[in-house]
Amino acid sequence: MRRAAVLGAAALLTSLTVACDGQSEGRPSPIPESCLIGGAAPQSIPDAIERINSLPRPLSISCFVASLPRPLSLVATNSPFSAQPAASSENPRIFILTDGLVLSIVPAGSGARLLEFAEWVSDTRTIKGELPFPVEETLTEDAPYDVLFNDTLTNCGLCHRNEDPAPDRRGAFISDAMRPEPDHYAAVAPLFDELENCDWDNETERCEILSALLDFGPVEEVAFADEVDTFFE
Ligand code: HEC
Repeated sequence: MRRAAVLGAAALLTSLTVACDGQSEGRPSPIPESCLIGGAAPQSIPDAIERINSLPRPLSISCFVASLPRPLSLVATNSPFSAQPAASSENPRIFILTDGLVLSIVPAGSGARLLEFAEWVSDTRTIKGELPFPVEETLTEDAPYDVLFNDTLTNCGLCHRNEDPAPDRRGAFISDAMRPEPDHYAAVAPLFDELENCDWDNETERCEILSALLDFGPVEEVAFADEVDTFFE
């Protein structure tokens, strides 16, 4: 059920592949091999925490992203309107989709040190979570739910509607999922050019995040299922 919500056959738009070794000639990725732990893709927020806790410290978002098994299913959006707004069309917000989980990152701007999570509990609703990086400590299982705005609402609930406490998950909330407005989807292919032209001296973190996404095996461009709301629906 959840799988169909995210990756229905019709939702699969394009497949992009990078060279076998995953990296362009003459530009080795600076991401350490100790990040490449393999294993199964995280299908829940607890799975992601477990993965984070098995990676080296201090842990960057890049190391975490590079660790994920390939192919990566990506949705890019240039929406300026979210907790993690896209900084520009060169720096879209990027969602990494597995069957059970949505991870959200931005390569630059105020959200670049945040990893956001949404774990599907139905076709249209997700448990939300957020973590600041770099991660220095071993995370506790409730670390991603520390996002209360006031007594009754989380920061996420400001935009994601119909927020309720998640049963059986201390501190966590479920709210409506949202997909990008149709005209806010951004293409994944130009990200390869952004990586090729990246200025490693002056925008190191951004280059590393692009490398973490694109240098470690194939990526494919996907879309959210139409039944997921957009912000203005
Ligand atoms: C200012 C409004 C706003 C706030 C606040 C907000 N979001 Fe979102 N979120 C959006 C919009 C709009 C989308 C649709 C995709 C897009 O256009 O970026 C979205 C989509 C998402 C998605 C894709 C899947 C899903 O379940 O919706 C994730 C993951 C996500 N947000 C995480 C979060 C988390 C975690 C928080 C709280 C820490 C949060 N968002 C707070 C506006 C917001």
